[in-house]
Amino acid sequence: MSNTASNNIESVLVENRVFPPSEAMVRQARISGMAAYDALCAEAERDFTGFWGRLGRENVQWDKPFTQVLDESNAPFYQWFADGELNASANCLDKHMGTAVENKTAVIFEADDGTVTKTTYRELLVRVSQFANALKAEGIQKGDRVLIYMPMTLEGVIAMQACARIGATHSVVFGGFSAKALNERIIDAGAVAVITSNFQMRGGKELPLKAIIDEGIAMGGCESIKTVFVYERTKTACNMVASRDKTFAEAIQGQSSDCPPVSVGAEHPLFILYTSGSTGKPKGVQHSTGGYLLWAKLTMDWTFDLKPEDVFWCTADIGWITGHTYVAYGPLAAGATQIIFEGIPTYPNAGRFWQMIERHKCSIFYTAPTAIRSLIKAAEGDAAVHPDRSNLDSLRILGSVGEPINPEAWMWYYKNVGHERCPIVDTFWQTETGGHMMTPLPGATPLVPGSCTLPLPGIMAAIVDETGNDLPNGAGGMLVVKRPWPSMIRTIWNDPERFKKSYFPEEMGGTIYLAGDGAVRSADRGYFRITGRIDDVLNVSGHRMGTMEIESALVAKSDLVAEAAVVGRPDDLTGEAICAFVVLKRSRPTGEEAKQIANELRNWVAKEIGPIAKPKDIRFGDNLPKTRSGKIMRRLLRSIAKGEAITQDTSTLENPAILDQLAEKL
Ligand code: PRX
Repeated sequence: MSNTASNNIESVLVENRVFPPSEAMVRQARISGMAAYDALCAEAERDFTGFWGRLGRENVQWDKPFTQVLDESNAPFYQWFADGELNASANCLDKHMGTAVENKTAVIFEADDGTVTKTTYRELLVRVSQFANALKAEGIQKGDRVLIYMPMTLEGVIAMQACARIGATHSVVFGGFSAKALNERIIDAGAVAVITSNFQMRGGKELPLKAIIDEGIAMGGCESIKTVFVYERTKTACNMVASRDKTFAEAIQGQSSDCPPVSVGAEHPLFILYTSGSTGKPKGVQHSTGGYLLWAKLTMDWTFDLKPEDVFWCTADIGWITGHTYVAYGPLAAGATQIIFEGIPTYPNAGRFWQMIERHKCSIFYTAPTAIRSLIKAAEGDAAVHPDRSNLDSLRILGSVGEPINPEAWMWYYKNVGHERCPIVDTFWQTETGGHMMTPLPGATPLVPGSCTLPLPGIMAAIVDETGNDLPNGAGGMLVVKRPWPSMIRTIWNDPERFKKSYFPEEMGGTIYLAGDGAVRSADRGYFRITGRIDDVLNVSGHRMGTMEIESALVAKSDLVAEAAVVGRPDDLTGEAICAFVVLKRSRPTGEEAKQIANELRNWVAKEIGPIAKPKDIRFGDNLPKTRSGKIMRRLLRSIAKGEAITQDTSTLENPAILDQLAEKL
């Protein structure tokens, strides 16, 4: 936890507009009206384990029913439904066989070039089973870890489901991460296989994936990898290592389309997903099978009010938690028809999302504020890509995720996409929470732009001070969750101590989950508004980046960089932008030379972590602002990054003159 926490938490904006749900929306909703929401919350308050036990039985198909709902004896290593057994893939696919869902379209896939393919639940089961058999044929079994580095295609979901089917734990790495990042994750997870693709198609361009895997493995320490499966997304050949690499076609050849799902314990790790924390090393967030699946399925019903005829579209990549819970598992467990889109929102033009909503009659659309903001900008500049050009009448619910949505973007989304008919569910959650934590319910909660409103029933969220005392409405503080919930992180892979330290601070008693975000509740309704991270984590275009991670990458360029400090600054489009202050081992560069070195450093960071971590601004100084005890004064750097005049006390600063140097833009 950063010791500047309390300084970052302010309650600034007051939003008075309120949008109650229409009567029609309330009438048809699964959770209909606030009284129904309150009743569920009361049930959870009254009988916490009874509540979760009921939901666990109603929403998950168990091979062996659980007898204990929650085991808190080893807190904060909470266990849910621990003696129950199930299979996640069976809960997403087999469960629907023999029902009306069997021949329903599971996935409408739209490729980058616009080609559309539809796959039914029955067909998906066949493909997942065949690929699961291919994994087994390579000796992969329950408990093994498999790294997935795939484009946003149906095959990515098939890879995840196939792992789940045989009880292998997958770890998906987003296609924008570098060879070095892959190498670290393969080693940390001890992965036995990689599932990748020769190339990925994005915005009409063919970009390599397999070559980056090869480079990552060649960096050493990856002897655990026995097989690399290569999906041939395009016809262009890629390097294949004879004894190790297999194309998908080779792997599934002759494999049966029947693969009995392997029962696993509810606490069996379904996946590990690496995310950024406040130290240099990414954390392998470990999720369970039973509790995770329950929440993935149930939040589809509650938050999105999913109906059999809905066409659901979550635009997140499977490399992020949103693409796990609301693409690979939740929609399938709930029997939804969903859209999977390979490409980018601006290709061939920035009207692509709106055109796709019309084309596929999408009824629930879930995306990130950063995408909305960039599409607003595009629509304002070019009427041809405005949402008005598409028929959006099929929409009934809109969603937002990943970062705070500013009220201006919210209003635009509400008016221009939802035509003031569609509630916006602003869902607050995290990689660690597995699924939604706080969100409006479409048929119950009056909406306030920019607020994620209230916790879902059973989620005991609160705002506290540094010692865990509750704060009154209107006072900014730290967001915590006071009781465990089924889909919560179980541990950090290979690092249980870091798990305890990061999320369950001793100062608060060691059993309360600390989200790492600041929040404030409104005085009138008690609605939550997230004010941003209180640790050294940035949110750039909804992608989570650790400042320390970028600093470590910069100083790893040891021939050039002596010291680096990274902070975030607000950015209209990406939410936050990365700003790096760098001290070189040589004299401070200026002019063209400074620009050239800055570019070199940006490319270096892209190689070390991935293009998503490239600093937007780089400033050079002879030194960094430090206190006499040598601590970098990050607050000052944040002000400089924002272009603010320095009003803070600088009397403890060793060398005040460097502030002017650092303020100089390249
Ligand atoms: O700061 C919060 C922000 O995103 C962080 C979690 O990032 P990640 O683990 O990558 O998961 C993103 C997708 C769930 C949070 O700590 N965040 C996420 N959703 C919201 C949000 N901030 C404000 N409002 C949201 N709806």
